[in-house]
Amino acid sequence: MQADWPAFFGQILPDTLHTNRTCPKAVQMEIAMKKIEAIIKPFKLDEVKEALQEVGLQGITVTEAKGFGRQKGHTELYRGAEYVVDFLPKVKIEVVCPDSLAEKAIEAIREAAQTGRIGDGKIFVYTVEQAIRIRTGESGDDAL
Ligand SMILES: Nc1ncnc2c1ncn2[C@@H]1O[C@H](COP(=O)(O)OP(=O)(O)OP(=O)(O)O)[C@@H](O)[C@H]1O
Ligand SMILES: [Mg+2]
Repeated sequence: MQADWPAFFGQILPDTLHTNRTCPKAVQMEIAMKKIEAIIKPFKLDEVKEALQEVGLQGITVTEAKGFGRQKGHTELYRGAEYVVDFLPKVKIEVVCPDSLAEKAIEAIREAAQTGRIGDGKIFVYTVEQAIRIRTGESGDDAL
């Protein structure tokens, strides 16, 4: 019986009990966060980083990536040369932010990363269930 108690409680309590991790609906309503993942041209990284800082975002993860889109890399230029391989160098950016900043962040990335040429990249947006700041134990958007 005891083991079922948190699950039961999570279902019937109002959404204000967002600290109860057994209550996903409440988590979504109280501490909604988005992860924005962007694949961009490497030389645009600094501009995108600055644009995100202007929006007020605190953290960012950057990974060197390789990929191709609709042209399969074939007709895309990289550093002035046409690449003969499928995979072109890209940079993957990940930022997690409160829902309230997501639209601004997406627009900032799009504006900063756009050249108008093929291969400018893509932005993917995910819902984040939880975030925890390891040093302090803060959670939700307080942890960002
Ligand atoms: N559907 C996808 N899923 C995962 N990654 C993708 C997808 N589409 C593109 N990417 C990543 O984004 C990078 C840039 O894609 P790209 O901008 O070339 O897309 P596109 O659809 O071909 O658009 P464009 O016609 O403007 O070139 C790719 O190299 C790849 O890493
Ligand atoms: Mg392409």
